[in-house]
Amino acid sequence: MKSENPKPVLLADYRPPDFLIDSVHLDIVLAPSKTRVTSKLTVRRNPDSEATGKVPLRLDGELLKLESIALDGRALKPSSYRVDDTSLTILAPPKEPFTLEIVTLVNPKGNTALQGIYLSRGVYCSQCEAQGFRRITYFLDRPDVLAEYTVRLEADIETAPILLANGNPVERGTLSGGERHYAIWHDPHPKPSYLFAIVGGSLSPVASTFTTQSGREVDLRIYVERGKESRAHWAMESLKRAMRWDEVKFGREYDLDVFNIVAVSDFNMGAMENKGLNIFNDRLILASPQTATDSNYESIESVVAHEYFHNWTGNRITCRDWFQLCLKEGLTVYRDQEFSADLRSATVQRISDVRQLKALQFPEDQGPLAHPVRPESYVEINNFYTPTVYEKGAEVVRMIHTIVGPEKFRAGMDLYFERHDGQAVTIEDFIACFADVSGADFTQFHRWYSQSGTPELVCDLSYDRRKKSAELTVHQVLKPSPGKAKKQPYFIPISMALLGENGQEMDLEVEGGIKIRDGVMAVSERTTSFKFKGVSSRPVPSLLRGFSAPVTVTMSISDQDLAFLMHHDSDLFNRWQSSNAYATRSIIGLLDAKRPNAMVAAKSSKLADALRYALRDSELDDSYKAELLKLPSVADVAREKASRVDHAGIFDAHRLFSRTVGEKLADDLESLYANASRDKKFSPDAKNAGRRALRNAALTLLTARGASEDFARVEAHYRKASNMTDACHALFLIAGVDAPGRLDILEDFFERWKDDHLVIDMWFAAQAQSPRPSVLDEVKALCRHPLFKITTPNKVRALIGTYALGNPLQFNRADGAGYDFLADKVLEIDQLNPQVAARMLGAFRSYRALEPGRKGLARAALKRVAAAPISRDCHEIVSRMLED
Ligand code: ARG
Ligand code: ZN
Repeated sequence: MKSENPKPVLLADYRPPDFLIDSVHLDIVLAPSKTRVTSKLTVRRNPDSEATGKVPLRLDGELLKLESIALDGRALKPSSYRVDDTSLTILAPPKEPFTLEIVTLVNPKGNTALQGIYLSRGVYCSQCEAQGFRRITYFLDRPDVLAEYTVRLEADIETAPILLANGNPVERGTLSGGERHYAIWHDPHPKPSYLFAIVGGSLSPVASTFTTQSGREVDLRIYVERGKESRAHWAMESLKRAMRWDEVKFGREYDLDVFNIVAVSDFNMGAMENKGLNIFNDRLILASPQTATDSNYESIESVVAHEYFHNWTGNRITCRDWFQLCLKEGLTVYRDQEFSADLRSATVQRISDVRQLKALQFPEDQGPLAHPVRPESYVEINNFYTPTVYEKGAEVVRMIHTIVGPEKFRAGMDLYFERHDGQAVTIEDFIACFADVSGADFTQFHRWYSQSGTPELVCDLSYDRRKKSAELTVHQVLKPSPGKAKKQPYFIPISMALLGENGQEMDLEVEGGIKIRDGVMAVSERTTSFKFKGVSSRPVPSLLRGFSAPVTVTMSISDQDLAFLMHHDSDLFNRWQSSNAYATRSIIGLLDAKRPNAMVAAKSSKLADALRYALRDSELDDSYKAELLKLPSVADVAREKASRVDHAGIFDAHRLFSRTVGEKLADDLESLYANASRDKKFSPDAKNAGRRALRNAALTLLTARGASEDFARVEAHYRKASNMTDACHALFLIAGVDAPGRLDILEDFFERWKDDHLVIDMWFAAQAQSPRPSVLDEVKALCRHPLFKITTPNKVRALIGTYALGNPLQFNRADGAGYDFLADKVLEIDQLNPQVAARMLGAFRSYRALEPGRKGLARAALKRVAAAPISRDCHEIVSRMLED
């Protein structure tokens, strides 16, 4: 563990590589603690290198045991190369192209960091992004070195009957004695090392085929643990939908004979887009009505699509360097969001994407971990797989779409694929394609990539009844962020309308600002005024429709006007947004109200009226109604409050408000709950999932009343559930309250699912999210449970992650015990898996917004972590958090 201040890598220091590697032949003999990797590389000078004269060849390598090294077939003398902890340097390589043959040993069994080759429940698998390939062999482990790979894998037939690598299968056979076998794979598409992957193990395939638009047949296989085959069908259907969608929407066709997906149980992230061999966290592949919730089904569909879409946005066109991560991630998230929007309800998809952005990215962007969508410096690149790079990165692509419009957007994407296929490129290259097809100037827009922080739009609308005119001023407030004190104004597309008395959109002439098209304006200055003429009645503004930019809007708007928008806004996204904003500000208002009971009565009536009105509207989808019924969470309210946050106070206000809304709406909710048709046969499609979501949202709001008959209803919901969506919803509700049936249900769930490692994660999570005061002790006890495993990231996320990130009330205990617990766990996990440990530390990202007592305690816990011998990953995170 290196704890000294490691040197950051800077975007400004980027230089093309001095050498290129054109082809790689790997021979990997799999064995638990001694896997032998023989690598043959063809190497040549890079004509574009800036270096002159004698240049050493420095290859990256970590945790490798070097067995031998030969150049052009001759063993290298020890004096002609140097090896240290992170590299192998050939001191005076030839000027002409040459071959290198390097043999290294690696230890999959001892690999708890889950980077490079490791074992997951007996399956050999690999994770290379970002820099794991250097834990397999010495290499130029950087994304701008593209090589053609041929891979031979060898293993025991018994333990690893399945042997997979990237590309197409070439040959396989058994070896003398018949106990061992091998397989050879070849990937014709040059790729960076981070896309390399292998799998060896005893797995069962689910097979299908896909015929591409040009008529080629592709073999599709999803490999899962024996006995779980029936749970892979949804993932397979999702894959085929994604393949078709990418053809129709973007003209992108698949380019190999096979597409393989493997599900493994130990995985640091969600999934990985390795060329032709995607490796997935099994949580994002396996689903059946009995074991997976609707939201599991939804994530499977979108992540399978996401990884598939990377084949073009990431693999065929990759990143020049890791600073450009959003080039592939932001764009691919945008693509998977659009895919889900097309398959499901576009409005509900947008609501859930915006919820996620606000819940995860806004706090990051407004705290000590803020960084630009394209960072300019990093210590550990794995710390930058963040909501900012992914989700805000997707919002930036969406704004480009809004600015140039759908046709030009498609033309820009077509140009990007045509111009850069097979290359490793930058954000500038990407943006240039849209500038070229549209003629628009993206110079100012580029600030979205270089400035961190969430812009705040302070808006004000005035109306002159006599002159029948209105004026809207929009002021950009750009608070300083770490490393960025002064900021320049952004180019911000604002989708908007002014609504008349009956909610109709006024058809108005605008002066000022920049008009993109009807209903879409843009601002580019610190302050912009729009003047509207012929405004016959006092208008109500509907701003930032569809969340047209990742900003916050501050505007004084009366409860009356918000209620009007909740009922009448023709933009359904904004109708939800208004109702959410209204609920949030009502709860914040209760925090220091002198007479909270009188206040809550008035505030909750308005919301209940709007919700009732929506519930009775037969034009609206169930899934949309469900979103309306989901009140903002304690964390949402804490984020909006933004300073001197006291979670206990927020929790009480939140409970009072939800209970009152539940009471006011009880008749409608009860009849909705009783009459919503139950599943005859489970189907995970959007319509059926929406129906379940609405019924479950009604159950939650009814339960907020806290009466004994409400708890009885939750218990009955659990007992009668015919699918995991309903069972899990009831489990989480009951685990959160001191209801008489609580322990029985937890016990019942455990007994039923103790042999299913994925379902049991829901049992851990249900307990960890409970706001009951004893939860910290319970979480500590669960850390010693026989089914809890600190080396399995899914277990850590389910128990410790849910407590720290999904239980704001109890994590932020006034006595700081939550912070101390997390610090202890981070230190423990860091010894095994630095990437996961650093991620858990993210739970502290908003500590500066806490009231002084909690803030001091959180800071003390962070300081304790900083003082311990920790990984580079954790070191970077705590230093950024503690910096002033
Ligand atoms: N590229 C993967 C994705 O689809 C994520 C890989 C993250 N890996 C990591 N070590 N940080 O989003
Ligand atoms: Zn991705």
